[in-house]
Amino acid sequence: MMTSRKLAAAVVLSATLFGACDNELKRIEKRFGVVATMSWQDSYEAFEEAPRGAVPGTMPIDGVRTYGLFEADSVMVSPLAGTDREIAQGAVLFGQFCAPCHGVSGAGDGSVVGPNRIPELPFLNLRSELARGYSDGYLWGMITNGRGLMPSYRRIPADDRWYVVEYVRKLQADAVAAGEIPPLPGAEPAGGEGL
Ligand code: HEC
Repeated sequence: MMTSRKLAAAVVLSATLFGACDNELKRIEKRFGVVATMSWQDSYEAFEEAPRGAVPGTMPIDGVRTYGLFEADSVMVSPLAGTDREIAQGAVLFGQFCAPCHGVSGAGDGSVVGPNRIPELPFLNLRSELARGYSDGYLWGMITNGRGLMPSYRRIPADDRWYVVEYVRKLQADAVAAGEIPPLPGAEPAGGEGL
């Protein structure tokens, strides 16, 4: 008599011979407990775990003092004036480092957001009223430290992170101009300056 193990092996073999697709193999593996491919295993999915933070007292490799998120929020002030050149610089960095997750317009619809990748979190939307309400220092601190599923982008030089902040402000001004979010109370009507 054929043991169930032999039977399973025969099924897997014939499934392979007849060109069964990956899902079919997975179904057989699950049913009979035989592993025919390496795809069915206990492994971590991308972004399943939040990144580990730095060990306290760690020296940054660029030797530049770092600031935690809340420290940055309260003490860091942008040295930039928001010129077109600065914003253009920020656009380049944003496209390289932020757009994959936050989306080209900052709406939270980047190319790596979706099933089995980064979940669609409301916090991914940098055009939101919430994100607009953060201080420049807070945005700088987010880039510096990351939070939760967002890794640190300390690889962007500390001074250059302000360009990215400028560009996020520009995207938020666009959102106000497009009527997506109300202007800040007391802000100049339209134009986007003074955000
Ligand atoms: C790998 C994906 C990823 C990249 C790349 C990324 N972020 Fe994020 N970001 C996230 C996630 C996920 C969150 C939500 C974090 C949380 O829930 O704590 C977030 C949150 C934020 C927030 C807070 C928004 C809020 O409403 O609280 C800001 C600001 C932000 N990111 C800015 C940036 C900037 C600027 C860049 C580029 C330098 C960037 N992020 C790159 C994934 C990413």
